[in-house]
Amino acid sequence: MPVTHTPARGAGAPVSGEQQRSHPPWGNGFEALRRQDPELAGLLLAEAERQATGLQLVAAENFTSPAVLAALGSPLTNKYAEGYPGARHHGGCELVDLAERVAVDRAKALFGAEHANVQPHSGTAAVLAAYAALLHPGDTVLALSLRHGGHLTHGSPANFSGRWFDFANYGLHEDTGLIDYAQLRVLARDRMPRAIVCGSISYPRHPDYAAFREIADEVGAYLVVDAAHPIGLVAGGAAPSPVPYADVVCATTHKVLRGPRGGLILCGARLAERIDRAVFPLTQGGAQMNTVAAKAVAFGEAATPAFTAYAHQVVANARALAAALAAEGLLIATGGTDTHLITADAAPLGLDGATARRRLAAAGVVLDTCGLARGGVRGLRLGTAALTTQGMGEAEMVRVAALMGAALRGEARDGAVRAEVAALAGRFPPYRSHM
Ligand SMILES: Cc1ncc(COP(=O)(O)O)c(C=O)c1O
Repeated sequence: MPVTHTPARGAGAPVSGEQQRSHPPWGNGFEALRRQDPELAGLLLAEAERQATGLQLVAAENFTSPAVLAALGSPLTNKYAEGYPGARHHGGCELVDLAERVAVDRAKALFGAEHANVQPHSGTAAVLAAYAALLHPGDTVLALSLRHGGHLTHGSPANFSGRWFDFANYGLHEDTGLIDYAQLRVLARDRMPRAIVCGSISYPRHPDYAAFREIADEVGAYLVVDAAHPIGLVAGGAAPSPVPYADVVCATTHKVLRGPRGGLILCGARLAERIDRAVFPLTQGGAQMNTVAAKAVAFGEAATPAFTAYAHQVVANARALAAALAAEGLLIATGGTDTHLITADAAPLGLDGATARRRLAAAGVVLDTCGLARGGVRGLRLGTAALTTQGMGEAEMVRVAALMGAALRGEARDGAVRAEVAALAGRFPPYRSHM
């Protein structure tokens, strides 16, 4: 396999600006990869095939647009750009400065925020940068317990957050699955935290941001909202915005928001400089400019009426799927959903979360397990962002639930359910061609 990079055009063949613009040199990138490295090209194609022939219900995933993929695979990946637009540590940043300014301006307009930092490499990087901006090592922080849906960055002993800060946990009501605000208030008064984190990997309802703000104000704490999951619904007007309530909003750009894998921080003007310094140079180096440009593309898409319709359809689909899964015998946490997220207990079918996930995977239905408030057991976590991008609606959700029910009851063994899953997915291809 050739290991040297051969420029697409040989020396001595000058290329005009017009040619560059109409035939960008990376336009046939996949063909170049296929010729140069068939092993990796084969893996990429196989993964595209896997995504297209199963039902992708991982709640944190989506299908980005071809435009976002194009920005990700562009020569902006070649550019080093430590710092911020107009104040970089590297030369040649004039154009990526413009791209980052577009991303920042679009994020501010989309979410009505005074300040946006679009450089965090991931949701984790965004949350840790928020802590770096607001906290000192050893400070007390309140967050949702990990077994009720808190993220690793919300104080897991396996994560930097749990090692450097003193986390105390509030939880969900065991009977309703809803946040226990009374417990949070008592805990806040008792522990007088420097910050309260509101956010979850699996909460299917809207947090009461006003209640969080009130409790934070009562004890003089910062309110950090980790909106990694709902931020896309917020962009589409299908969920309330945390921006008016939080000191800092952290988010990911790759879930319902449908952008590239990455992070985002929103805050008021008062904290802007601290947040920017916490991202670079405190916790990150050079920004990934191809990803920043892809975020700009995604923010542009999210500002359209088509995305607003998409976000509302995501929620309508999740509600339809939750109701149909309940009819299949699953116990739906909180009795339903207001978001893209559903958490469900398969115990009424005699299955624990891990076994249920395995049976579904064998049928081509891909999702995760998660902790459930009730009984402290593990259940299933799924979301409708990806299926909705594929164009599925409520009628398909009823079919998806029926296929899941069949797989969970063990009817998947002969491969019939797998074949039906592939047939359904095949009617809604995520991309017109695989690459
Ligand atoms: C609530 C929450 N915070 C943070 C993250 C971390 O995002 P990333 O995987 O991009 O680091 C996630 C990811 O799923 C999340 O759900």
